[in-house]
Amino acid sequence: MRKVQEYLDVDIVIDSDGKISDIRKHKSADLRARLVTPALFDTHTHIPFIGSRAFEFLMRTRGKSYIDILAAGGGIHYTAKLVNGASFDELLSIAERHVRKFLQHGVVGIECKSGYGLSVEGELKQLEVINHLKSIVPAKLVSTFLGLHAKPVDGNVESYLKTMQELLLVIRERNLARFVDAFCDKGVYEPSMIEEFVNEAKSLEFELRLHADEIANVGATKFGVKHGARSVDHVLKVTEEDVELLSNSETMAVLMPTTSFYLGETYAPARLMIDKGVAVALGSDFNPGSSPIFQPSFVMHLAIRFLGMEPEEVLTAYTYNGAVLLGFDSGVIAPGFAGDLVLWSTNEFLDIPYMFQENFVEHVLVDGRLVF
Ligand code: NIG
Ligand code: FE
Repeated sequence: MRKVQEYLDVDIVIDSDGKISDIRKHKSADLRARLVTPALFDTHTHIPFIGSRAFEFLMRTRGKSYIDILAAGGGIHYTAKLVNGASFDELLSIAERHVRKFLQHGVVGIECKSGYGLSVEGELKQLEVINHLKSIVPAKLVSTFLGLHAKPVDGNVESYLKTMQELLLVIRERNLARFVDAFCDKGVYEPSMIEEFVNEAKSLEFELRLHADEIANVGATKFGVKHGARSVDHVLKVTEEDVELLSNSETMAVLMPTTSFYLGETYAPARLMIDKGVAVALGSDFNPGSSPIFQPSFVMHLAIRFLGMEPEEVLTAYTYNGAVLLGFDSGVIAPGFAGDLVLWSTNEFLDIPYMFQENFVEHVLVDGRLVF
């Protein structure tokens, strides 16, 4: 992840098919910049949603925990109420605004997910919003079905699991998601509860991702590796043994230091993971409760500061590793890769995380097309 090649005084040539065709000694260019990097991929957000949970921030600073608030019917349930009450168009226009903001900050690939429906209609509405969004924004969006985001309000977990398992087939038939995810943690869905659901998802050829071992280690990382998950996300509470398992697997770790920051939690052992050879991607976890922030510069700041990541590792995590996880031939400036680029107004990459409040993005290209 630390292997970053730097070129000085070159032109990046993009063909009419939107792919990079050449890197040549500078001759002439349509656009100039002090620094060009591959465009960024945010591998974990909770778009689409509506509303803010700023009041929960205050509840937490006054002593309540994220899980206390969730168990009392707040948290994800609060947002689910708003999302179920919102119209398709309302959700779509908020999501569109969010995605355009990401683009302005150099993020061209975004994973979006359901999980604020917690009902058949609500989950489908969210997935349809993402689908529609793909046709109106120039970003590269990937959908995830996160029906198992919280326990049902009526407390009937068994029947809810059955309903969500049945929904998998509908989602497959309508091609509404690439990934299936579950909040696999203490007080939510522990591995043994979701084995059948996960097997069904795999048999329908969904790729698996998990919100894993964020609050407590419930064996979610082990479970993810065992099931060939594409990624385990958060992983704040992993053990050395989990890290060993990850490093010998194809499963990536998605780290989201803004969530630790907002919840006042510990940070994932990123240094250990990367040193052991685990492939790490970064994400904002952008959502109204535990991480109401998407700015990649701030995610990078926290990654360097609290995850102990080197700037080169941060760049790799946010570009190539993110693109690989989301399934795009992007994240590298080399012939054959997509012309997804960010043109920055500083020539010092470290300025971006250092002065995180400043948006150094000047231009953004997606498949060679100027989108910002
Ligand atoms: O990734 N951990 C669970 N889910 C989200 C939080 C979503 C919410 O609180 O609304 C997360 O942090
Ligand atoms: Fe999340």
